[in-house]
Amino acid sequence: MGKPIKLRDGTSVEVRALTRADADESFAFFQKLQPEDQAYLRVKVIDRKIVEQRLQKNANVRRIAAVVEGKIIADAALELNPYGWKRHLAEYRIIVASDYKRLGLGMVMAGELYELAIKEKVEEMVVELMSPQVEAKKIFERLGFKQEAVMKNMVMDVNGRKQDLILMRCNLDEIWNKIETYYEEFESLGSLETV
Ligand SMILES: CC(C)(COP(=O)(O)OP(=O)(O)OC[C@H]1O[C@@H](n2cnc3c(N)ncnc32)[C@H](O)[C@@H]1OP(=O)(O)O)[C@@H](O)C(=O)NCCC(=O)NCCS
Repeated sequence: MGKPIKLRDGTSVEVRALTRADADESFAFFQKLQPEDQAYLRVKVIDRKIVEQRLQKNANVRRIAAVVEGKIIADAALELNPYGWKRHLAEYRIIVASDYKRLGLGMVMAGELYELAIKEKVEEMVVELMSPQVEAKKIFERLGFKQEAVMKNMVMDVNGRKQDLILMRCNLDEIWNKIETYYEEFESLGSLETV
């Protein structure tokens, strides 16, 4: 049983763990993404085998999904580094279906991953983006992230074009403050709630 959430437009959504049993729905979700969203994802999720591999159990990754009437409408992950010099850091990945963007779902997913990060004693979150991912940069700025570095032509998108890699970083307390403020704003308007 997942967590029931109501989005800004009143849509009821369940947020729950994403598992291997979700391969069909996960594949359908990635296939329906707009080409510009598919192009900048880290792996070729339009390949069914890659989607299945992605859902294999991995002790260092926590995956969650937002679901409406059995259909996945958002996918998010917390990637941990339990050993070595980055063990205090974790990485955020969040993808929201086009029809559900700008309804607060990205913030909901960020909040759920925040709770998982706290349990794992993570201190700071990082995010890696390609420079055309403008909306992603906006939500992470809203969550308190600051740009730390730009590496010119460091990564290659799905279409084989080299892109700048942007590294952003934020400590966990700051993220929680920003999420709380965001919820307070919308609760005062009577929308976006955990039901
Ligand atoms: C980035 C992404 C996850 C945002 O999801 P979302 O559900 O639309 O985000 P939210 O509705 O929670 O937005 C929260 C805030 O972020 C900012 N924001 C999000 N998208 C924005 C946009 N396109 N333009 C300007 N600000 C934006 C706003 O401050 C917004 O608050 P507001 O709507 O009250 O102004 C979504 O656009 C997406 O999946 N993009 C493609 C995949 C991607 O790039 N993922 C990030 C890689 S990790």
